[in-house]
Amino acid sequence: MYPALKHSHMLFVAISILLFEYRFILKMMKKTTGKTLKIAPHVNDTLLLATGISLAYIAQINPIHQIWLGSKIVVLLFYIGFGMMALKSEGNKSIIGYILATACFVFILFTAITKNPLFINL
Ligand code: HEM
Repeated sequence: MYPALKHSHMLFVAISILLFEYRFILKMMKKTTGKTLKIAPHVNDTLLLATGISLAYIAQINPIHQIWLGSKIVVLLFYIGFGMMALKSEGNKSIIGYILATACFVFILFTAITKNPLFINL
C-alpha cells in the first residue's frame, strides 16, 4: 500500500510541474488553454496533496517535528502563490512568478529526496 501511494505521489509531482510549465509556455505564446487544461491541474494537485497527507499519516511523519516535511508544506504554499502570479499576471510580474514558482518546486523536490531542507544528507 505505502509504496503504491508513494509512487502515485511522485507521479502527481511530475504531472504537476509538467502542467505548470506547459501552461506557462502557452501563456507566453499567447495561446488559449482549453477547458481540460484549466481543470486538470486542480484535479492533479488535489491528488498530490491527498497522497502526500496519506503518506505522512501512514508513516506517522509529523510536519512539526520533521522539519523537511514542515518546510515542504510551507514552500508548497509559496509554489501555489507564485504559480498563480505567473499564470494570472502579465509582463515582468508573470516572469518573476514563473521563476520563483519553479525555484520553489525544485526546493520541495530536493527537500523530499534528501529529507533535509538544506539538501544535505546528514
Ligand atoms: C509540489 C509539492 C510536492 C513535491 C514536489 C513532492 C515531492 C516528493 C518526492 C519526490 C517524494 C519521494 C522522496 C523519496 O525519494 O523518498 C515525496 C515523498 C513524500 N511526500 Fe511529497 N511532494 C510534494 C508535496 C507533498 C505534500 C503536500 C505532502 C504532505 C502534506 C507530502 C508528503 C510526502 C511524504 C510523507 C513522502 C514520503 C516520504 C518517505 O516515505 O520517504 N508531499 N514527495
